[in-house]
Amino acid sequence: MSPNVTRRTLLRSIGVAGGTGVMFESMRALGLLASPHALAVPDYRPPRAGDLAATGRHGKRVVILGAGIAGLTTAYELGKAGYRCTILEAKDRIGGRTWTVRAGTTETDLGGHAQTARFARGQYLNAGAARLPQSHLTIDYCRELGVPLEPFLNTNVNALIYNEQTGAPVQQYRTARADMYGYVSELLAKALDQGALDQEVSGEDRDRLLTFLGRFGDIGAKADGFAYTGTSRRGYSVEPGAADQPGEPLGPPPSLTEVLTSAVGRYLPIELEYGQAMTMLQPVGGMDAIPAALYRAVGADKVRLGAEVTTITDGPDGVEVGYRDSRGKETLVGADFCVATLPPHLLAGIPTNLSPGVTAALRFPTVVPVGKIGLEYRRRWWEEDDRIYGGSTFTDLDLSQIWYPSAGFHGGRGVVVGYYHGGPDAVAYGELPPAQRAERAVAQGTKIHGAKYRDELASAFSVAWHRTPFIEGGWVGWPSRTSGEYALLNKPAGRVYFAGDWLSYYIAWQAGAFDSARHAVTGIHQRVLAEG
Ligand code: ALA
Repeated sequence: MSPNVTRRTLLRSIGVAGGTGVMFESMRALGLLASPHALAVPDYRPPRAGDLAATGRHGKRVVILGAGIAGLTTAYELGKAGYRCTILEAKDRIGGRTWTVRAGTTETDLGGHAQTARFARGQYLNAGAARLPQSHLTIDYCRELGVPLEPFLNTNVNALIYNEQTGAPVQQYRTARADMYGYVSELLAKALDQGALDQEVSGEDRDRLLTFLGRFGDIGAKADGFAYTGTSRRGYSVEPGAADQPGEPLGPPPSLTEVLTSAVGRYLPIELEYGQAMTMLQPVGGMDAIPAALYRAVGADKVRLGAEVTTITDGPDGVEVGYRDSRGKETLVGADFCVATLPPHLLAGIPTNLSPGVTAALRFPTVVPVGKIGLEYRRRWWEEDDRIYGGSTFTDLDLSQIWYPSAGFHGGRGVVVGYYHGGPDAVAYGELPPAQRAERAVAQGTKIHGAKYRDELASAFSVAWHRTPFIEGGWVGWPSRTSGEYALLNKPAGRVYFAGDWLSYYIAWQAGAFDSARHAVTGIHQRVLAEG
């Protein structure tokens, strides 16, 4: 009997005996159905207290460099098995790039520009990490740590698209999408109907595709030449109402040429990206709820703030890390292992006895400059006037995008992200004193939202991550992941392990930091169990 027949027979008998629920679970187990859960969660077994105690191996000491997500997670996971962890954090706060700015938050950048946030009580800016895809490991940690989540509205059809260079009028995302999908569908339907694609698709498949295109683009029937003439998908200039008010649709679309010239199509695919598709989530009250929960679980006594690492010395029996505290006092910490979670370019600058190959590998990733500004408004005009509840407006301006808050609807105030950009725009804004950054961002934003964008502004706070002490970058990129450096740093250098989003395929996501920490933790724990 072939394996398939065996499986089919088996499934039929399970179906009869246990109902379809049991049958579906069995099909999953046999690999006949993809399991979304198995796809979403990588394999991981946390260290357990009994693992070490059973063999008298408890008490290993680990010094962790950095109290961002990777560092805190390393301590949290190792703590489950009783490792004695000490985290050294150069900044005066935990969280790294998971940083929520609130009233009273202060920061001085590398250029000496000092800022204090003047936001009203309850208002905040997630200056770094700000959105969580539902598939990410971060969500599992939120569940485990009891961090409440709410929707993060990444895509909003009422948000806008603005292209200064093409001179196209500001329009809603929904309108741009209706026109782009409409014309693409019309063209493809015509090509199919004329037999231009008969080599690729014909017969019933062609009919099926035509049916799909009719819905996808909301186009006319064959008798109407499959024409896209615009429908209510574009939106209304007057909303429909009761009785004799059918509403006024926005009207016929611009021509195909006008739609293509306006370049709106370049912003549409964000909702199709794996990491940017709805549903997305955020912690209630600020992203810093995640590091705060880890910190509580780890214990404040394990974390030394204001501790700038000055040396890392690896030895056959242990590691020694030197740090300088905020008063300039030098201290040495000895441990069995070190987990270094600082950004690679900063680690590369610390005197160590690690091999030249490791140091060269740490210098290999390229740093991406990134900037973000929070503009606090006295009135939520985007909701009241424009009916924009969350989501992003995309532009070709140097501010790149404007984000509207996903929570606090109809509250008195709100913080809008006035720019979020990387590369040359981030460098240009970052060089300005904070007041001028805000001025420039507001001047640009008025092109889209008009005078209220300036008139109703209450306060602003900006971050230039590449100019932020002890972080010095938004994130990094690998010129190559296959030329050896990435693999080298994913292995321990003696007793020194590396971890961080930069050592994952989730760069610039907390999920990368969580999973990279798990990787280091697993490596250390297996080694301890094997070495005895
Ligand atoms: N993960 C970052 C974002 O979503 C890059 O913007």
